Order: sequence, then structure tokens, then C-alpha cells
Amino acid sequence: MTAPPGPAQAMLELRSVSAVYGPYRALFEVSLTVPAGAVVALLGPNGAGKSTVARVASGLVRPTAGRVLLDSVDVTGWPAYRIARRGLLHVPEGRAVFGSLTVQENLRVGLAARVGRRALGAAIDRAWTSFPLLADRRNQLAGTLSGGQQRVLSLAKALAAAPALLVVDELSLGLAPAMVDAVYGGLQDARDAGTTLLVVEQQVDRALELADAAVILAHGSVSWAGPAAEAAAEAASLLDATSGSDDSDGGRPQEADDLPAGQGLVNGP
Ligand SMILES: Nc1ncnc2c1ncn2[C@@H]1O[C@H](COP(=O)(O)OP(=O)(O)OP(=O)(O)O)[C@@H](O)[C@H]1O
Ligand SMILES: [Mg+2]
Repeated sequence: MTAPPGPAQAMLELRSVSAVYGPYRALFEVSLTVPAGAVVALLGPNGAGKSTVARVASGLVRPTAGRVLLDSVDVTGWPAYRIARRGLLHVPEGRAVFGSLTVQENLRVGLAARVGRRALGAAIDRAWTSFPLLADRRNQLAGTLSGGQQRVLSLAKALAAAPALLVVDELSLGLAPAMVDAVYGGLQDARDAGTTLLVVEQQVDRALELADAAVILAHGSVSWAGPAAEAAAEAASLLDATSGSDDSDGGRPQEADDLPAGQGLVNGP
């Protein structure tokens, strides 16, 4: 027997969410659902509002209207730390690692508090299995990793905490193909282990290979939502129409270009 999809099975639900940055309206009545155990890709061109949706979900941006539900609990307006405590982990754009700590120390920091000391070893072992490139570098200072490797480490840190819902924002941006493979391999493992995922991406193909469903944003509104298998054509026409101007809107920091030397970036400055 399969129950009809409904709010009880939604891990994350945004209902008619609007959000602003000062006088600028970034989201207009955005509604989307991430069912428990599913992977939803959030797609759209630069400036569409993808990161803002991620920030609203994790409590970094407070919506001006609408509701946010996490596992059926109304968390609208909750501070980010309380939402994180309920199982939502957000890996924002860019990297968040401690450069003067080793890879292994980075994984341990914060993790003991989340998973408990007894589960720490097993959580770290899972990270080594999912991310062999980190296992090979476990005693290396994180600051000496390439930008792509640091990005993989920030994902590994988040996944080691076994979140109920992981929100990742453009993890593959600017990464060499091998690092993109590592990122998506880790996300696939997380998905197989039952983690619910909201994957913000501009790299449509990889995200849709992983996703069950997709939501396409344009100009702060949902322009399309449906099964991942049907999303590629929609995304292609939308992105073709809007993304030919690269980063000329000037609105985004280029986060993957300030890296230590020698990491094989595909789109350095
Ligand atoms: N901190 C901020 N202050 C003011 N405006 C912002 C801020 N962050 C984002 N914006 C604006 O809000 C809109 C949506 O931005 P957002 O970062 O959510 O888009 P995005 O889809 O994630 O874009 P990108 O693909 O470039 O990451 C953009 O017009 C952006 O310039
Ligand atoms: Mg963004």
C-alpha cells in the first residue's frame, strides 16, 4: 500500500515563501516540497533565488511571508541553530573548512557533539569510505588542499553528521571533473543511506542524474516543478534563455577562484 504524498511525508516544505534583502525582493511566494528520502534538484540561472531558498530553509534568511515546515514542524522564523538541531544541515556556496587543522581534525570538530563520542569513529570511517581522496590525505592540513578538495571536505563534514536533510549549494561550481565526481559520489552514498537532499545546482545534468524531482526557479519564482526525468528539457530552454551572459549580473562572488595553487580549476579567473 502506498500512502498518497502529503505533508506528513514531507521532510521540507516551503509554502508561499517570500524573502527580501533590504528593499530587494528575492523570492515571490515560492512553494516547494522535498519528500522524506528523496533528492530534489533546485535549478535556475544566476540570481534566480536558489541560494535564498536554501538560506530560508536553514533559517539564515527569515521569510517575510509564507511558512517553512521541517518534518511537519513549523520552523518559520526559527534561528538557524535550532533548525540545524532538528536535522537540517546546510552546506553553503564556497568552502567552510579550518585551514590550520588536518583533514581528520576537520571531520572531528563539531562531530563529537553531534553524533556522540562513541559513534565518532564509525562516522569518520564512513567519510573515508565515501571520500577516498580525503582518506589519502587525512593528516594533511586542510589549508593545503586544493579548492575542490576543500569543497569535498566541507561536504564530508556535513555528511558525517548524518543529517536528516542536507541542503547543498552549488558544490560543483568551478570544480574539475574528478572533484565533481567525488562530490556526486558522496551525495549518492548519502542518498542510498536514506538522507533527504535538496541539491542547488547550475550543473543541470549531474543534479538530475541524482534527483527524483526538480524545481526550476526564475526571477525569484518557481517556473517549473516536476519529475527529474522531465526537467532537463525545461531547464535547458530556461538556462539557454537566461544564462548566456555568464556572471555579468555582478551579483555573485566568484568563490572557486581564490584557491591555493595547483588544483586544476576549470574556470579560474
Ligand atoms: N546578501 C544579499 N544582499 C542583497 N541582495 C542579495 C543578497 N544575496 C542575494 N541577493 C540578490 O538576491 C537575488 C537572488 O540571489 P540568490 O543568491 O538567491 O540567487 P542564486 O539563484 O543563488 O544565484 P547564483 O546562481 O548566482 O548563486 C539576486 O538578485 C541577488 O543579487
Ligand atoms: Mg546561489
